[in-house]
Amino acid sequence: MSTQPIGIFDSGIGGTSIFKEIKILLPNEHTIYLADSENAPYGNKTPEEILQLSIKNTELLLDMNCKLIVVACNTATTNAIKMLRAIYNVPFIGIEPAIKPASLSSKTKTVGILATKGTLSSELFHNTTNLYRNDVKVIEQDGDGIVPLIEAGKTLSYEMKTLLTSYLKPMISANIDYLVLGCTHYPYLIPLLQQMLPNHVKIIDSGEAVAKQTKAVLTLENLLNTEINMVTHKFYTNKNPQVLCNILDKKYNVEVLEF
Ligand code: SIN
Repeated sequence: MSTQPIGIFDSGIGGTSIFKEIKILLPNEHTIYLADSENAPYGNKTPEEILQLSIKNTELLLDMNCKLIVVACNTATTNAIKMLRAIYNVPFIGIEPAIKPASLSSKTKTVGILATKGTLSSELFHNTTNLYRNDVKVIEQDGDGIVPLIEAGKTLSYEMKTLLTSYLKPMISANIDYLVLGCTHYPYLIPLLQQMLPNHVKIIDSGEAVAKQTKAVLTLENLLNTEINMVTHKFYTNKNPQVLCNILDKKYNVEVLEF
């Protein structure tokens, strides 16, 4: 058993979609969230840059005494988690696009994936997709420009709708019946996506699966917090604290930290 916090990091505010699922499934756990908004988006950076930023975030969370790190960013997972696991002696939980459940359930045998360039071009993404796609056609779409708009608080804006219209068009023409969200920022687009996609298209994100995996690893490693106590959730960002505040429950404080 351990009362140490779970550390969660993302290139910005998107990983809060994962924090919310973890909080539901693991209500006893303290958490610390790092939003590296100053360096968002990670999706257009080189694998080396993504690794260096992931190391910086990990070291900060380890300095804050975290017992497990959730890499709540698809781009950082696909480009850096292998190295993080090799360097540090704590468990890491990563996020991978849910290609497997989408491929298994698709009736039109065509699924869409919206993710960053960094995720779509990574070796881990290619290997996972090839392993699970079976006879299903996967339409990949780089969501260039989406993360900066979400980080600027323009999630449901006209600009976003225009961008999404062009990204969804080829997928709708190809008759997808599943859209996989391959970036932790994208679940905040679900209300807009539901308006824009045909009714039969289902949207899948990885938040719940990540929370379940976090619980499974904490249980296996005997790291669950079994003490009855006041649970704390801390949030740090290095840019635009108001945008992170807006996406969270009002009861949480967001601190600005240089990192
Ligand atoms: C980004 O920073 O470009 C997106 C983060 C993600 O891939 O989840």
